[in-house]
Amino acid sequence: MKGVILAGGLGKRLEPLTHVTNKHLLPVYNKPMIYYPLQTLVDAGINEVLIVTGGHHAGDFLRLLGNGEEFGLKDLRYAYQKGERGIADALRLAENFVDGGKFVVILGDNVTNASIRPFVEKFLRQPTGGRILLKKVNDPQRFGVAELKVNKVVSIEEKPKRPKSDHIVTGIYMYDAKVFDFIRGLKFSQRGELEITDVNNMYLRQGELYFDILKGQWTDCGTFPSLFRANQIVARQFP
Ligand code: G1P
Repeated sequence: MKGVILAGGLGKRLEPLTHVTNKHLLPVYNKPMIYYPLQTLVDAGINEVLIVTGGHHAGDFLRLLGNGEEFGLKDLRYAYQKGERGIADALRLAENFVDGGKFVVILGDNVTNASIRPFVEKFLRQPTGGRILLKKVNDPQRFGVAELKVNKVVSIEEKPKRPKSDHIVTGIYMYDAKVFDFIRGLKFSQRGELEITDVNNMYLRQGELYFDILKGQWTDCGTFPSLFRANQIVARQFP
């Protein structure tokens, strides 16, 4: 099974920490941020990984992670995203790497103490389509929000002012290769990005979007409070 880590973007909300480095290289407790999503993939049985990054610090990922053998990876590759045009735009660069197969995507700032292995196994058993992982949070308006009705996702809204639920879409996505056709059909959003939420809604409209609720703790690291929370999640795992 292949995995893709999206680690581009400017990390604007973490200035000045991100002034001279990429957000995903910042420390979370005792390791660089990107170690955590990478370990989450490895723990799920994924041993071929592509890291998509961009900006001025792309070379630092290679210096940090090399060929990935420290993580037991069979293959670690890198792709370069020109400009910052959103998560779905970065994902486009994975098309050759995944080579028509099914794969798992994780955002490089998603930190969790939960195992995603059972969900990846369910995804492997599902013949086609996508699978997302949801999490209940206190500040849903910061995320993609999933409206649930009788245990089904009926809509996903990106950063709604009035969220229809407190279940948000984490940055862990599983897709078949159809995702690249969906991305080709996307239009830039108001914030000038190709939105992953639009991709998920395309799967939803085709009746091919499945979901699970992520157990354990999860956070992104996009803001100072969430970066702090990531540190707490990791620190609590040490005696
Ligand atoms: C992105 C997605 C959002 C998702 C979040 C999870 O938001 O657009 O749907 O809920 O990641 O981390 P961003 O943090 O890039 O604004």
